[in-house]
Amino acid sequence: NVKGALFDLDGVLVDTAKYHYLAWKQLAEELGFAFTEADNERLKGVSRTRSLEIVLEVGGVSLSEAEKHRLAEEKNERYLQYIRNMDESELLPGAKAYLLQLKEQGVRIALGSASKNAVFILEKVGILELFDSIVDGTKVSKAKPDPEVFTLGCHELGLTPQDCVVFEDAEAGVQAAIAAGMYVVGIGSEAILGAANRVVRGLDELVA
Ligand code: G6P
Ligand code: MG
Repeated sequence: NVKGALFDLDGVLVDTAKYHYLAWKQLAEELGFAFTEADNERLKGVSRTRSLEIVLEVGGVSLSEAEKHRLAEEKNERYLQYIRNMDESELLPGAKAYLLQLKEQGVRIALGSASKNAVFILEKVGILELFDSIVDGTKVSKAKPDPEVFTLGCHELGLTPQDCVVFEDAEAGVQAAIAAGMYVVGIGSEAILGAANRVVRGLDELVA
């Protein structure tokens, strides 16, 4: 029986994956190359620094550490412009209802995200107080597909991996959950998330 639920943020609870994509795409265009939605799949669940490296790899561009640092900051500034005005309406369908349903069932809830903007976003959309634990990009050092983010979340909830279920929209996130020894529900397409135990289009499908 499930005692803990660990949620990825971007693309699972909130529709911010599109803003990450737009910000990276603009950065790529500025550097003189195109960045497609297919390329973008590789960035999902991946840290900001690693995302930049992948973007530069797509464009065949190599830069100094200082220049990379500046571009990562610039991307985040752009991303912040998009998320600054977020409100409840940008919660994905069923997200809040499903969190409330789990709470009612006594399931403990943790966030497991690589984002350093996670708390800001949870506050904006009004669901921060529903979490018993927040593991985000400020707490973990190893990016998904490393299991650290989920292992830590499970530990903070005082549970074992067999008690926990992970909700993920990224291939790297599904791999991280599997590596952590947890049951994983993919949110999105079967084609990308086929390794998950179960795949649904969105959390709304799980609301009773
Ligand atoms: C999540 C997203 C990634 C993003 C990463 C870092 O994992 O899926 O696309 O790059 O967080 O987010 P941040 O808000 O810290 O740049
Ligand atoms: Mg995600």
